[in-house]
Amino acid sequence: MNEYCGQPNGRIIAVVTGASSGIGRDFARLLADGSARSAVDTPEEIWLIARREDRLETLAKELPIPARLIPLDLAAPDGVLRYEQMLRIENPRVRCLVNAAGYGRFAHTLDVPAETLLGMIDLNDRALTAMCVASLPYMDKGAAIVNIGSLSSFQPVPYINVYGASKAYVLSFSRTLNVELKSRGVRVICVCPGWVRTDFLDQAATDKNAVTYFNKLWEPRDVAARAFADLAKGKDVSILGFMVRAQVFLTKMLPHSLVMKIWMHQQGHT
Ligand SMILES: NC(=O)c1ccc[n+]([C@@H]2O[C@H](COP(=O)([O-])OP(=O)(O)OC[C@H]3O[C@@H](n4cnc5c(N)ncnc54)[C@H](OP(=O)(O)O)[C@@H]3O)[C@@H](O)[C@H]2O)c1
Repeated sequence: MNEYCGQPNGRIIAVVTGASSGIGRDFARLLADGSARSAVDTPEEIWLIARREDRLETLAKELPIPARLIPLDLAAPDGVLRYEQMLRIENPRVRCLVNAAGYGRFAHTLDVPAETLLGMIDLNDRALTAMCVASLPYMDKGAAIVNIGSLSSFQPVPYINVYGASKAYVLSFSRTLNVELKSRGVRVICVCPGWVRTDFLDQAATDKNAVTYFNKLWEPRDVAARAFADLAKGKDVSILGFMVRAQVFLTKMLPHSLVMKIWMHQQGHT
């Protein structure tokens, strides 16, 4: 097993992927300004990961603690390599890892280039797993991993099916990892939001015929705040909003064939 290999005096850091916008950016803000301290220690430094360095720079300027900018394409085959090298060199204590980098595409599967579909799996699943595995040797008792799943983690979702399947993986991986890490005192929580007001939706809806009915848009900051509150309570899944929780409950009770029919009807597909 990967035991904790940091020094007791290693610098306390938090790491956030997808920090250049949306949900990841708000997780970084709450970690840096101490709003998450009921769930995890406030870090001395925060490492911000995404491809758009200018966006990371803008965020870093507003944070009250030092930030390290790490511009990386996590979907690339060696995407996590540089992060691993930085960990080896710096030997920090990672108190919190937030995996928020991710994307989806609303369209018929055959209308999406294979590269885009496979890139989704590379980023949403492969990179997320690699980030966890790379970070764990630097995480000790009280540390936490926050993986962003989705409401679609709970149900098959036609017309954004690879994304939905990739998020089902995130839920299963996170909950089981949480069980495996219990004896070590490292917690893992999967955050499963409904629709959130971020760039995600515009980027996912490139095919205007394929989408979309958004019943309610949540704010990314509220998703992050709720996740830390749930982490502090010892939960392994965080769901913001009564209606989203009700939908999760129904997807567990109803046959998935019916759940898919309701989704198709809601989205205007025949
Ligand atoms: N918005 C929603 O309705 C919603 C609902 C449920 C779950 N989620 C999940 O929430 C997470 C965050 O999404 P969001 O809503 O905050 O969307 P967003 O604003 O589009 O953020 C996505 C983040 O992922 C980063 N990213 C994308 N491709 C990357 C790559 N190849 N390498 C490194 N970073 C990459 C983006 O940064 P760069 O472009 O700078 O690389 C950006 O920071 C995602 O996992 C998404 O699936 C969103």
